Amino acid sequence: MRKPLIAGNWKMNGLRASLLELSGMARAFSPALRAKADMLICPPTTLLFPAAASALGSGIAIGAQDCHAKESGAHTGDLSAAMLFDAGASAVIVGHSERRTDHGETDADVKAKAEAVIAQGMLAIICVGETKAQREAGKALAVVAKQVRGSMPANANAAQVVIAYEPVWAIGTGLTPTIHDIAEIHADIRKNLARLLGKDAAGKIRILYGGSVKPSNAKEILALTDVDGALVGGASLKAADFMAIVEAA
Ligand code: PGA
Repeated sequence: MRKPLIAGNWKMNGLRASLLELSGMARAFSPALRAKADMLICPPTTLLFPAAASALGSGIAIGAQDCHAKESGAHTGDLSAAMLFDAGASAVIVGHSERRTDHGETDADVKAKAEAVIAQGMLAIICVGETKAQREAGKALAVVAKQVRGSMPANANAAQVVIAYEPVWAIGTGLTPTIHDIAEIHADIRKNLARLLGKDAAGKIRILYGGSVKPSNAKEILALTDVDGALVGGASLKAADFMAIVEAA
């Protein structure tokens, strides 16, 4: 019932020449694959417009990696949800751990950003995840539950919200939690979504796993009941790697 979403986060990587990888993905995203999985690429903002043009008709959606919570105004260097939408984005990642760390974003900031994304009619991909110290202290479930609660937009609806569980210590490290740990935390996130939004909505919201997803581990992770896709960093930069993950879904 929940169609898997395989999302690629290019982070601060990619020049115009990288759009060749996107064209490769578009060619490989066959009607048979499209029927089984949704695909999203979030390039750096400089590439949003050409990426959206290049992905046109391919079934690949294009998204942004962050946005400002306000609609417009005196915020030098920032971009609003309306601007990202205008450039061709249909989704925005909010609250990625790199933004929470590098820019001090709080749950309240993430919530406000997600609200702006939803108000613009786009999909908000809300990232949560514990640090290594929190995991080792046995606090992963509690930390993630608090982030989900604190970052949940007031205008949340099942069609426009995706949660991405990304343990900070698994991002770009090659490390992943055990399959048991991923299953446990995803089930717990779904339980908390039910508390916040009701059982029906919680059953429809996609919960992605992110953190060192690659072709070799995708199948096992994506087979879990409450894992509805993946948010992929490094392995989303190359068409061959990324499409192998889409195939696994
Ligand atoms: P990674 O990044 O796949 O390179 O670990 C995941 C992410 O940060 O979304």
